[in-house]
Amino acid sequence: MARILITSALPYINGIKHLGNLAGSMLPADVYARFQRARGHETLYICATDEHGTPAELAAAAAGQDVETYCAEQHILQRDVAAAFGLSWDWFGRSSSPQNRKLTQHFAEVLEANGLIEERVDQMVYSIDDKRFLPDRYIEGTCPHCGFEKARGDQCDNCGNLLDPTDLKNAYSVISGSRNLEVRDTRHLYLLQTRMADRIRTWVDGHGDWPVLAKSIAYKFLDEGLIDRGITRDLAWGVPVVKDGAPRPGMEGKVFYVWFDAPIEYIAATQEWADAEEGRDWKRWWRTDAGAQDVRYVEFMGKDNVAFHTVSFPATILGSEEPWKSVDMLKAFNWLNWYGGKFSTSSKRGVFMDAALEILPPDFWRWYLTSNAPESSDTAFTWEMFASSVNRDLADVLGNFINRILKFTEGKFDGVVPEGGEPGPLEEKLFADVSARLADLAEQMDAIEVRKSAQALRALWVVGNEYLQEAAPWTAIKTDRDRAAVIVRTALNLAALYARISTPFIPFAAEKIAQAFSLEFPAAWPSNDAAVELSSLPTGLSVRAPEVLFKKIDEEMIAEWTARFGGAEEG
Ligand code: MF3
Ligand code: ZN
Repeated sequence: MARILITSALPYINGIKHLGNLAGSMLPADVYARFQRARGHETLYICATDEHGTPAELAAAAAGQDVETYCAEQHILQRDVAAAFGLSWDWFGRSSSPQNRKLTQHFAEVLEANGLIEERVDQMVYSIDDKRFLPDRYIEGTCPHCGFEKARGDQCDNCGNLLDPTDLKNAYSVISGSRNLEVRDTRHLYLLQTRMADRIRTWVDGHGDWPVLAKSIAYKFLDEGLIDRGITRDLAWGVPVVKDGAPRPGMEGKVFYVWFDAPIEYIAATQEWADAEEGRDWKRWWRTDAGAQDVRYVEFMGKDNVAFHTVSFPATILGSEEPWKSVDMLKAFNWLNWYGGKFSTSSKRGVFMDAALEILPPDFWRWYLTSNAPESSDTAFTWEMFASSVNRDLADVLGNFINRILKFTEGKFDGVVPEGGEPGPLEEKLFADVSARLADLAEQMDAIEVRKSAQALRALWVVGNEYLQEAAPWTAIKTDRDRAAVIVRTALNLAALYARISTPFIPFAAEKIAQAFSLEFPAAWPSNDAAVELSSLPTGLSVRAPEVLFKKIDEEMIAEWTARFGGAEEG
């Protein structure tokens, strides 16, 4: 059995995430984690809130809270809404943890010892009216690359280029709006990525199996030429910059840049997990001198995060010259858009995770967001597409099948798995078909082809409906009870199989189906041998139809949600 480490990009602490965040990292990672656990692989799925940096300070200020209280509250909110969505993190950490503080300071120390960190006097934008420096998101202005007028000091959301505050044209303070800015000297630590360029390229070259999206972004940055990056900031909230355990002389009160400490939290969160319970060992997941050489490490993230995970974080890891595990498979996603434009946390555009659950159960969203995952290109959320995916796939195909066969069993076979009869040609054909499709599903799941996996799963649901239609137990029962028993038994086994293979995508409905058969949940992933898997329910077992699994979405509901969340009219 393999050992699989999974991380999804750490959600920023600044508020509940929108469906785009969910679709592009946390949800597909959860589907993958659930699948690998079901296959019996030792799996550790780690996530955390990304709590430092200007977004946290700005959001706390907007909420009228001090930043620590704000982060503590928001962490709980994000944790709870994620649990309600069924995200099965083994640990949900906090980048503000003591473990991360220590580990971040450790990396800075070894990188400096290895000649990869240098102190430089920097010119940074200072706001005279605000009496402070304006790093990263404290400053906005026009992007020098694409002309976008609301580019932030650290990154342009329009063209994706990473920026320095001094790159911005016509810049203004986000705090006061003031354009009364000047460039002043300030001392900062720089990570000398230029010295690491060849090494990082060789490392990326060694990952030819990454999806095109991840590779193309990595090479874009490598080809443009790496630059030395400032990894400290003139901010109060973050991991303090220290030397020999005391504030670093000349850099008192400064902290590490959020993008320096955030990915380190993947490791530190695993330490938090280990510290929380006796007998857990983080090193065998992260240290290749302590067992992690056997780990397969898979990262999930949106495309805006790829550069940080293919260049900056590897520079930290490789530059340390310590035996850290680095990523094996980097699964990146495009954007899920909200109608014509983007989901936006700052302008509250789109549907957010908490609101989504106010109107519909988690599985509805999970199914739509995975079966329409923004893999090969950006995709746009529309209420119509959402409704059609829920109604057609979940209600008409899966829900209908489960309901039909269980109701029929209750009506005609006293609610027990009937005995009698032998599988015939129709069943043989079904077994062959299901076997092939199970193999396909497992292959797509292993390859983290999210859409194709959902399609393969849906195809299996469709096969059940077709079988029932063709075998027609309601006709057979009139003349040949044994024949009807074979069909019902086979179809009940299909339903139980669906509970097992649907769990990664729609765990709540899958659990209800499992309960209908008193099956353990979550169950092990089935073999590809359908003849075996579809004769596993004991005859005589009592079954009962679950309450309606998926209630259909109608025009009226769409109209109501369009009014509440916007959508169509913004087209
Ligand atoms: N908070 C970042 C975002 O939402 C992602 C951080 S991922 C990590 O875009 F690598 F820094 F952990
Ligand atoms: Zn731009």
